[in-house]
Amino acid sequence: MRWRDALDLTDAELKHFVSGFDVLGFTAVIEVRPELENKKTLLAGQLMKLHPRLKTVLRKKSAMKGEYRVREFEWLAGEKTTLAEYYENGCCFKFDLARAYFSPRLATERARIRGLVQEGEKILALFAGVGPFPIVIAKAKSIQCLAVELNPYAVEAMNENIALNKVGGRVTAVCADAREVLPEKKGWADRVLMPLPYTGSDFLDDVVSNQKRGCTVHFYGFGPSNDLFSAAKKLITKKCAAHGRTCEFVGERRVRPYAPRISQFVLDFVIG
Ligand SMILES: C[S@@+](CC[C@H](N)C(=O)[O-])C[C@H]1O[C@@H](n2cnc3c(N)ncnc32)[C@H](O)[C@@H]1O
Repeated sequence: MRWRDALDLTDAELKHFVSGFDVLGFTAVIEVRPELENKKTLLAGQLMKLHPRLKTVLRKKSAMKGEYRVREFEWLAGEKTTLAEYYENGCCFKFDLARAYFSPRLATERARIRGLVQEGEKILALFAGVGPFPIVIAKAKSIQCLAVELNPYAVEAMNENIALNKVGGRVTAVCADAREVLPEKKGWADRVLMPLPYTGSDFLDDVVSNQKRGCTVHFYGFGPSNDLFSAAKKLITKKCAAHGRTCEFVGERRVRPYAPRISQFVLDFVIG
């Protein structure tokens, strides 16, 4: 039985029902619109009945916000916790959903990046969160990765996840501002990951001016779904020129729909 069919909602209520939800291990994260406030316990309870593996149902209570890109949750059913244990791409991650950013919707993108990485690469994984990009890559490839993250709790969880996945010899987590690390690692990286779609463009100058020719950069952003890449390509080209560099775009991808007519994208470019 589908979740919506188990709820017995009126047609008017169904208009406000959001059927999509995320599952992180034993935790489901659902969206309940204000119009269905008085149905939230029913929604969560029925979801647990339909998916007996679930131990907790949480409700998104805010958008991702602040410098650490963290959201608030409301507990709705099951075990009262925001701790999650999540499996992806052959790796396991444990973290507190309410204290660090995480999105299971980037799993395919992480696998794509892993596929591009060559053995022996030096990778600067900026904005690393609890470590999913660096750990997924390091689990499969012999790399040297410096994972940079500002949120002290996320770094603590990343270190636990590095140990859990036995990639300690390949990934080093550092709690720092990417802006400070980039000049310290001048010319070091073969590849730079920039998964900070809201404000990542603020860091382009530091990346382009500090990394060597031949370095591949994965730049994430949001854009209008009907013309997703043009503005970012223009900006990157301009930033490279300002630092006496060129750029060659070697990949582009719509990562996921984000809001009506807005998508998240990634642009892969090589600094020349
Ligand atoms: C959108 S999240 C991505 C996290 C992770 N890469 C993932 O995919 O789950 C961006 C992360 O960048 C971190 N961040 C924001 N500003 C930063 C900065 N100046 N230096 C380092 N990390 C920063 C935030 O704390 C957040 O964890």
